[in-house]
Amino acid sequence: MLQGKCIVLGVSGGIAAYKAAELLRLLVKSGAEAHVVMTRSAREFIAPLTFQTLSGNPVHTELFDLIQEQEIGHISLADRADLVLVAPATANLVGKVANGIADDLLTTTIMATRAKVLFAPAMNSNMWNNPVYRQNQAKLEDLGYHFIEPVYGDLACGWQGPGKLPDPQEIFNAAQVLLGSSELSGKTVLVTAGPTREELDPVRFLSNYSSGKMGYAIARAARNRGARVILVSGPVSLTEPAGVETVHVVSAQEMYRAVMEKAVQADVIIKAAAVADFRPVRRGEQKTKKGPAEAMTVELQRNPDILAELGRQKGHRILVGFAAETEELLKHAREKLTGKNLDMIVANDVTQEGAGFDGDTNIVRLLTADGKIEELPQMSKDLVAGLLLDRITALLPKG
Ligand code: PMT
Repeated sequence: MLQGKCIVLGVSGGIAAYKAAELLRLLVKSGAEAHVVMTRSAREFIAPLTFQTLSGNPVHTELFDLIQEQEIGHISLADRADLVLVAPATANLVGKVANGIADDLLTTTIMATRAKVLFAPAMNSNMWNNPVYRQNQAKLEDLGYHFIEPVYGDLACGWQGPGKLPDPQEIFNAAQVLLGSSELSGKTVLVTAGPTREELDPVRFLSNYSSGKMGYAIARAARNRGARVILVSGPVSLTEPAGVETVHVVSAQEMYRAVMEKAVQADVIIKAAAVADFRPVRRGEQKTKKGPAEAMTVELQRNPDILAELGRQKGHRILVGFAAETEELLKHAREKLTGKNLDMIVANDVTQEGAGFDGDTNIVRLLTADGKIEELPQMSKDLVAGLLLDRITALLPKG
């Protein structure tokens, strides 16, 4: 798969550095030419000889080493790379790159490259959740750098939480997805994300737990593959992805209008939004007073089914829906797939740990109109987005 690709594997100093050896083995096995760059602290955790033996190439460590520079300098490494993959990426390394600091061979290579850069962060869960780190990662994501999220687990520091380096195979898959890129150039992808809010009065609304993470990951992945991306987003607290046209809406009716207006431009429509099926018949002009009543009835009316309407006006477009289910996943997903005239539906059982609303991972099954079902294991929403776009690309007419 990676035959002929030049991958610079950056290793920074964390306990997970040993897993980079397994990642390197996978890269080499798949035919990639791999060059390893280690930071000084990475060498405290694992010896360069391990990487040299596995890659068959000298390991690069020093910015100003004359012999190394002569053989293959940092600019040459940066130029030759098809991908710079940093695993593990420490908070320090991510912070440096986010702030333009290039004070060693790895940070210099990352700054100098025009290739895609994929970070696989691993750190203590409190560091991972630290707003300073979050801002650094968000800044880099907005600038088009790629991240594979760490997983939840027991950390070397004794804490339990997010921060563990994903399985090397997962990182390898993410690298593969990235290197299969730009296949969507010239295509317009319309993505919906997040919840809708249906107002009861000026201070209350009906909604759901969608954070928008799944839809935003799809928008970023489509952008990274060269597509023009329109993102219609319900109210979420995520950063707008750079290079994506984002339209903000609140209610299902607003989402309906925005999507129908933009749909005519789209080659692919992916509806990850969790749209409220009903809205209150009446919206109070003022905050509703509880008065003496012990109970209260709110009358609801149906919202437009945006996806079903898109299915009626499908034309040449590839139409992909999501199904968030709590029971009979496949049965309900199949009903939506055929009932809404879709090419594919992404079914997630939102009661499953690690799947559905708000978290950073999802567990999905991809059902296609030809009756096939692909079952995917738990993976980050970024990775789900990448695989989903692979499958959608295969459905697009060739040429
Ligand atoms: O946002 P996150 O926190 O990351 O969570 C991700 C997610 C759980 C929201 C996502 O993975 C997901 O499942 N999205 C679809 C949620 C949903 O509304 O499912 P549904 O089964 O109710 O709807 C089926 C499809 O019809 C969806 O594509 C939905 O966008 C669409 N729909 C539904 C109702 C409606 N009135 N109009 C619609 O277009």
